[in-house]
Amino acid sequence: MAGLSLAGLGKRYGAHPAVENATFELATGEFLAVLGASGCGKTTLLRLIAGFERADSGTIHLGGTLLSSPAHHIPAERRGIGIVFQNYALWPHMSVARNVGYPLEVRGMGRSERDRRVAAALESVGLAGFAERRPAELSGGQRQRVALARCLVMGTKLVLLDEPLASLDLHLRASLQDAIADLHRKSGAALLYITHDQAEAMALADRVAVMDAGRIAQIAPPAVIYREPATEMVARFVGRGGIVPVQVTRAGEKGRAPVDLFGCPAVVRCRADQPAGAALLCVRPEDLRLAARGEPSFEAVVKRTHYQGGSVAVELVPTARPGALLAMTLPGHSVLAAGQRVALSITDGWIVPAG
Ligand SMILES: Nc1ncnc2c1ncn2[C@@H]1O[C@H](COP(=O)(O)OP(=O)(O)OP(=O)(O)O)[C@@H](O)[C@H]1O
Ligand SMILES: [Mg+2]
Repeated sequence: MAGLSLAGLGKRYGAHPAVENATFELATGEFLAVLGASGCGKTTLLRLIAGFERADSGTIHLGGTLLSSPAHHIPAERRGIGIVFQNYALWPHMSVARNVGYPLEVRGMGRSERDRRVAAALESVGLAGFAERRPAELSGGQRQRVALARCLVMGTKLVLLDEPLASLDLHLRASLQDAIADLHRKSGAALLYITHDQAEAMALADRVAVMDAGRIAQIAPPAVIYREPATEMVARFVGRGGIVPVQVTRAGEKGRAPVDLFGCPAVVRCRADQPAGAALLCVRPEDLRLAARGEPSFEAVVKRTHYQGGSVAVELVPTARPGALLAMTLPGHSVLAAGQRVALSITDGWIVPAG
């Protein structure tokens, strides 16, 4: 059975297109993370799927059922979608246990079965001792756990999460990430998860969608987003590294092409149809190293170093291109100082497809 399917989905606020032509499928049980700059349309996309907003164009199907088209709108409460938003209210007058069990109560499930499921759900999000509290007596992180537990007992096949961990401290984030991974595993539900945290998206998701000004710029597994960004925006937004101009000296063949990078020859990865000519090269930290004597290289100046325990993160400015910034990682004992000139060689890279 098909999971969630969006086709040509669009939403404008006045003249401003908040979401444009969103078209993708989310398989049953899949975990999709949505990344993108503030204001790019992530929350609007989720609100459209949840049914809190009406789309101007396109369709939404869930499990083969039409939820939304310009002529048709199933209201949020009848979509059977679990929701964990940063500010999505729990019912303040109900205890934690009743908040979690309410969807089961509505379905007419008997008391003892309901109590058993609620207890199991609270246990699995680490709130076993909190059943009788009111939401006002919980911390932000605990409230998010109650919302997760409610999704667990509902057994919904799709859960939407909008930055549920954004306001929490690092330690709490880590434990709630575990709770979310757990929810995903136990429920078999598909998850659509908005986050600002790339590491979180990369670690948790099967695929990542990167949004740029209302459009989905790329949707792919984390390693593909990182290694083969489809646009300059995705290359800059995801992962550390730099974008530098290169000359492609011969058209790509079998996914590789020779380039001239500031006079230094190299062979890098590219799309099958990469033509020769000017292009942008995405260079990740692991693609650079200090050149050995006599090796083809280009010159750069160390801008800053950050000691990170076992390693040092180094920012470098190519001498031939003072506006560009590159990043590389060196062992923790390396001694490089700001202002120092170094010879770099490049071992890999990805030619960003021309828009
Ligand atoms: N109710 C509204 N009325 C008018 N404009 C809106 C409304 N809601 C959102 N917008 C605009 O639509 C665009 C997308 O907003 P949205 O909330 O989807 O962004 P976002 O990607 O979730 O951002 P953030 O990361 O800051 O949460 C923004 O330019 C925003 O100002
Ligand atoms: Mg948002």
